Parts: sequence; structure tokens; C-alpha cells
Amino acid sequence: MEPARPPDAAALPAQAGGGPTVIDATVIDATVIDVRKLTHRFGTFVAVDHLSFGVGRGEVFGLIGANGAGKSTIVRMLTTLLPVTSGGAIVAGYDLVKQPGEVRKHIGYVPQLMSADGDLTAFENLLLSARLYGIPQREIRPRVEEALAAMDLTPFARRLVKGFSGGMIRRLEIAQGLIHRPAILFLDEPTVGLDPAARHAVLDHLARLRAETATTILVTSHYMEEIEELCDRLGVLKEGRLVAVGSPAELEARIGPGATLDDVFAALAGEEAGPAETQAYRDVRLSRRAARTHG
Ligand SMILES: Nc1ncnc2c1ncn2[C@@H]1O[C@H](COP(=O)(O)OP(=O)(O)O)[C@@H](O)[C@H]1O
Ligand SMILES: [Mg+2]
Repeated sequence: MEPARPPDAAALPAQAGGGPTVIDATVIDATVIDVRKLTHRFGTFVAVDHLSFGVGRGEVFGLIGANGAGKSTIVRMLTTLLPVTSGGAIVAGYDLVKQPGEVRKHIGYVPQLMSADGDLTAFENLLLSARLYGIPQREIRPRVEEALAAMDLTPFARRLVKGFSGGMIRRLEIAQGLIHRPAILFLDEPTVGLDPAARHAVLDHLARLRAETATTILVTSHYMEEIEELCDRLGVLKEGRLVAVGSPAELEARIGPGATLDDVFAALAGEEAGPAETQAYRDVRLSRRAARTHG
């Protein structure tokens, strides 16, 4: 499946200035996120422990793991929002530790918690994002319109966001993360708390984004069916460590014939997620399991 348009990362480091970062050309070609022994400690607690993995250009890569496994901490480090304790990463061709400003210009981030401003319209929220990302004045309007259209929000552009449904707010937040046409979009649990229809709308829009722009996507999720639907490959996290990386089919085959991603999660991420697993999450997981077994 050839990408329709090469992502912005294609124009990446000519390294003309001979900066401090030495980047292996083969890595630039294939790998748009290259994580090497990335570690984050909160005090003495190791939340992310010597993590290494790569994500190819145009790929959709999922991170799954129980609550507290370290998903958000990884995303926050890769988006420059949390300091790296040790190790590092090349993100969109730039060194995460040495060139955080360059990394920021080439990525979009949709956080786990709500980030759109309810007292503004969708249009105004996008204007703010456009200014934040330093989009030139005359480019702002077309970019805002492009982002609204990409998430099918054009008819709601002038409405206050506090009247939006959860799914519309999520799509607006994704639009905000796309306004500067980033090479990589990071999404932390983009569908958590959405009803199934809204969740599918968000997934459809992400699938379309990927098909039309070849944007590389790193997504975390608790929902195995959406990981299966959306992701080329995924990493299974347990207590800050990657315990497996592969395509959904590869990981399922590793568990045994007929295994689903739920089985992969149970076997590798830990069936007993312990006190960190909320009752709601457990209910969903168990009801899914029952639905699969009984019909
Ligand atoms: N600011 C913080 N201070 C201390 N510990 C934290 C902080 N943020 C997260 N943690 C801990 O780090 C671990 C990983 O958290 P997180 O990355 O949010 O997990 P996930 O997103 O997979 O649920 C958890 O044990 C969490 O309690
Ligand atoms: Mg999280």
C-alpha cells in the first residue's frame, strides 16, 4: 500500500548545519520513530524501563498495556513534555533530547485528557492551535478549513465546543493536532469514554488520515478491537517494559491457534492487572470475552 503523499518527514534532516546529532541514513529512510533504551523515573520509581522500538514511516503503531504500564509516560517523553531520564529517541529525524524544538514542529499530540476549550468555537480552537504552531498568517484560514474538513467538522465550525458530543470533541482535538501537517501524530487513548458509534467515527477518521496523508501514527489504547483494526504493529507493555512487538497476527500466532488480541493482552500484559485496573475496564473486558465465547 503506497502512501498517497510522502509525509513532511520526507524533507527531513539534510543536516547541512552539521549539528551535533549523527543520524544513520538507513534509519531516516525507514524509521520515523527510533526509540533507544528510553527510560523515565519518577523519583526512584521506574515508569519506563530501557524501552527500544522503531516505527516506520506511514505506519500505525499501537501501545497496549494495563493502567499504569507506562503508556502515557512514553507518549509524553516522545512529545517532549516529560524529560528523558536516560536513553533517547530519534523522532521525525530529530534527536529528542538535543533537538526538542525541532521534534515539536514535526509532531502532533492528542492528550488523554480533554484539551479543547469549551468556551470557544471549533474554529477558534483551531485558530489558537494554528498560532501555537507558528503557521503564517495567510496560511491560517486554509489550514483551519482543511483540518475541519479532515475531521468532518465543517458544519459545526462556528458552534461552541461545550455543546459538542464526546466524539466531536475528540475529532476537534485530532484536528488541532494536525493543523501543522505533522509527520507523526501521537494519540493517547483517543477513544476512551466514547460510545461505540463515536468511537468508530474517530477510528474511521484516523484510518482515512492514514490512507490519504501517510501520517505516521502512534496510538495507545485499552480496546483490543480498535488496535486490531487500526494498527500495523503494536507493542505490549508491562510495568514499563516492552514484552512483545509485532503485527496483531504475529502476536496472536505466538499465543496459539484462534487467539485474539484479548488473549495476547491477557497472556502478555497480565490478566490480573491488579488494583490499577478500574471496575469499568474490567467489566468491559469480561463482557467482551463472554461475547466472544458465547456468540
Ligand atoms: N507525575 C507522576 N509522579 C509519579 N508517578 C507517576 C506520575 N505519572 C505517572 N506515574 C506512575 O507511572 C506509572 C505509569 O503511568 P502512566 O504512564 O500514566 O501509565 P498508563 O498511561 O499506561 O496508564 C504508573 O505507575 C503511574 O502511577
Ligand atoms: Mg495513560
